[in-house]
Amino acid sequence: MNINNILIVGGAGYIGSHVAYLLHTLGYTITILDCLRYGQSTTALSPFARVVVGDVGNSELVTKLLTEYKIDAVVHCAALLEVGESVRDPGPFYTENVGKTQVLLDAMRACGVTKLVYSSSCAVYGTPTQVPITESAPFSPLSPYGNTKVAVEYLLHDYAVAYGLTSVSLRYFNAAGALPEVGLGEYHEPETHLIPLVLRALQHDKPFTIFGGDYDTPDGTAVRDYVHVHDIADAHAKALVHLATEKVSDAFNLGTGQGASVKEVVAAAELVVGKKANLLLANRRAGDPPRLVADPSRAHRLLNWQARHSSLAYVVQSAWRWEQALQARLEYLDTQYAARR
Ligand code: UFG
Repeated sequence: MNINNILIVGGAGYIGSHVAYLLHTLGYTITILDCLRYGQSTTALSPFARVVVGDVGNSELVTKLLTEYKIDAVVHCAALLEVGESVRDPGPFYTENVGKTQVLLDAMRACGVTKLVYSSSCAVYGTPTQVPITESAPFSPLSPYGNTKVAVEYLLHDYAVAYGLTSVSLRYFNAAGALPEVGLGEYHEPETHLIPLVLRALQHDKPFTIFGGDYDTPDGTAVRDYVHVHDIADAHAKALVHLATEKVSDAFNLGTGQGASVKEVVAAAELVVGKKANLLLANRRAGDPPRLVADPSRAHRLLNWQARHSSLAYVVQSAWRWEQALQARLEYLDTQYAARR
């Protein structure tokens, strides 16, 4: 099957925008559907996609886009993602992440669109019993956020069996880094992720808090597998190629296979910024596993995917260049939004 017209749901967000950019450069025709509600989008006025502002829970709108733009495949990146918030208030997470995904899938079925790439997460594994983590590790999420990712993976499985809707679930480990040279990067409101927070602390000479110094890891801080968002985008491109030929749904871990501790990330940030961090130590953050590192060999074998831009130094350096450009980018977008209102 020839795949050319792609609908990216959540295509104005952090990962979706990098996916949109890469797929555009590869020659796909991109339509973005994004509600622009969760944090100000940095790519809402994307020059490389048709951007429709709307809700994926709006079945009529989704149906219209699928038919009008002759969509061949959907990339679904839209979700609420803050783990702590999902514990405090899980309702919206089920509505946004599960309920609206089902609306999307039903609209796809009705329109005969049978290919989907889904943004899943290493959160499906919870605290793994074995590291590096393979895709056959059991689902054991620790938060409602993780539960919603598992719920959708089950939904996709059942829709594949019953309705022939084929999907690739990409289980991201820690997406990080940016493509500042094309105006893309991370912007969450509120920001909870390690790399932007430590960079901002250094930039503004503020203290930075490490959550947990007593993990069973070499330096006592938690270990994660940081993978550059451009590599993650590349996996979506490869998943589309896979979907064009494969009739079976599948799931893949996206990581480097190498872990970095919080202290190692702080050290990399200090080097890039050229300042020493003022570190505070706090208790572990609830629900944080000690060590999450992917075994990415399956994605390598079956998708021909590998993390190629994900050295910690490059990830942190690209994030730093983005942080420095971010304020100007947000101001520019404010004026563009105002002009459109
Ligand atoms: N951390 C700090 N201080 C901070 C922020 C984070 O020490 O100010 C630590 C965290 O405790 C954690 C590590 O840095 O040990 C990484 O934290 P992030 O918030 O950057 O990322 P997470 O590993 O918590 O989250 C990632 C994804 C989520 C996904 C989760 C699964 O971003 O979407 O993995 O566990 F759900």
